[in-house]
Amino acid sequence: MLAIVKDDYDAMSAEAASLVADRMQKKPNLVLGLATGSTPLGLYRELIRLHRDEGLDFSKVTTFNLDEYVGLPPNHEQSYRRFMGDNLFSQVNLDPRFVFLPNGMANDIEAHCDWYEQQIGAAGGIDLQVLGIGSNGHIAFNEPGSSLGSRTRVKTLTRETREDNARFFASPDEVPRYAITMGIGTIMEARELILLATGENKADAVRAASEGPLTAMVPASMLQMHRKAYVILDRAAASKLSGEYVHTYHAASLVRRPR
Ligand code: PGA
Repeated sequence: MLAIVKDDYDAMSAEAASLVADRMQKKPNLVLGLATGSTPLGLYRELIRLHRDEGLDFSKVTTFNLDEYVGLPPNHEQSYRRFMGDNLFSQVNLDPRFVFLPNGMANDIEAHCDWYEQQIGAAGGIDLQVLGIGSNGHIAFNEPGSSLGSRTRVKTLTRETREDNARFFASPDEVPRYAITMGIGTIMEARELILLATGENKADAVRAASEGPLTAMVPASMLQMHRKAYVILDRAAASKLSGEYVHTYHAASLVRRPR
């Protein structure tokens, strides 16, 4: 696990975008894992800018999103498919045939989860997976207590997660109770991981994930077992890491830029 601490949200987003763009340039048919939530919005904005201004090409890229609410149709304002359409897909040249999200309206959800895993396998596995972190330490919708070897399946959302996400819905009761999510085992098979966190309300979760014991009660702590996991933080999200740790990586950048 390599922590990179940037001064603020924009610098964190730019760092993450440099890494994604670097991998896309090295492998035009990259298999890219995507996340929803407020945190990756800056990354997506920067990727859109790189596409528009510098010709970053998504035409051969395959994407797999981490999760989707159960019971929301794809065009629902708060569905993750809609979120991705609005915030990335409609503004870059991805081929819709190569864009995958779980379908929260699937009739046979278990069969659908198996199909999703098969599609990831058929694409050759995920090269680079983008992750956020919940204030409770979840990754995707793998809530505390999730099996560390889990695969794509339905999870019940915790009260904390539903409260965190209530800001997007008209009332807390409208937040779905269930979601389809890649498992921790699925995520850990990605060849590289980038976890992004911003703001003070993520500082405890970041500390527990990075420096605490490996435990299913903090699903993000599993990243400590990954060979190429980059944790890109702003100062506030890094504020509870031990001083030495932050000092070591403070000035680092993941991608060498031409001078
Ligand atoms: P956020 O969500 O980016 O909206 O904070 C992250 C998460 O819950 O994984």
